Amino acid sequence: MSARIIDGKALAAELRAAVAAETQRLVTAHGLQPGLAVVLIGDNPASKSYVASKSRALVEAGMRPFDFKLPAETGEAELLGLIKKLNGDSAVNGILVQLPLPRQINTSRIIASIDPDKDVDGFHPLNAGRLMSGLPALVPCTPVACLKLIKTVHESLVGIDALMVGRSHIVGNPLSQVLLNENATVTVAHTFTRHLPELCRRAELLCVAIGCAEFIRGEWIKPGATVIDVGINRVTVDGKSRIVGDVNFSEAVEVAGAVTPVPGGVGPMTIVCLLVNTLRAACMQAGLPPPAV
Ligand code: GUN
Repeated sequence: MSARIIDGKALAAELRAAVAAETQRLVTAHGLQPGLAVVLIGDNPASKSYVASKSRALVEAGMRPFDFKLPAETGEAELLGLIKKLNGDSAVNGILVQLPLPRQINTSRIIASIDPDKDVDGFHPLNAGRLMSGLPALVPCTPVACLKLIKTVHESLVGIDALMVGRSHIVGNPLSQVLLNENATVTVAHTFTRHLPELCRRAELLCVAIGCAEFIRGEWIKPGATVIDVGINRVTVDGKSRIVGDVNFSEAVEVAGAVTPVPGGVGPMTIVCLLVNTLRAACMQAGLPPPAV
């Protein structure tokens, strides 16, 4: 048996077109061009590459980019000053500070200083709390992307046995909450979890975000399960560098019912979901109904 491969690239292209159309509608009908400020500190190569992809996608969708590239030695006070300015700028509807930040900057303090209505990452404690309380919130982009991919396989998640492997603040925690809000039966596994293979084998929906190359083996997967692989890990095999997920894809594809590839699964969708969040933030700030994407 061979699993259906969930084509994140194709689904992202569809969603990107819908976002561009909605952006155009906002510009024409309301004179509102959503703007996103992206702040990058230092020169971490992975962060530079993510930020470049985000800015490119933003421009292609017809939104307005505000790019800030600051040196690695930037102090916390200076960054707080920039965020204060962006919070007060009505042309800026969303603010994204690329993580990780250099050691001299307290990440929690920076996240808490962003206006929650402009927090397109959904990392502010107010948005995290609203998500937990089942209230409307800006939800982190990767969990939103995962849910959109899952919904292409499962119309409803009511009562489904879901296992979230990983509990990071960026993915695992909010994704487990998103699944719970869909009425899935959610188990969360982490570094200290015992009997992980057995737990995995019970899951009809297996989501993995641990940053550990090909950690989940095919024999751990329940036959017919849906597997969402959030991992992006660079490995070198026979002198060649390539990107792999947290799931052993060639094994998973033989057992699962549907599986996301890496690359080309969750990654491309995540970037478009940042655009969706920027649209949502812009509509919210203008007192308009939520966008139709
Ligand atoms: N670094 C890795 N993933 C993310 C993300 O989703 N948002 C931000 N701001 N930084 C990241």
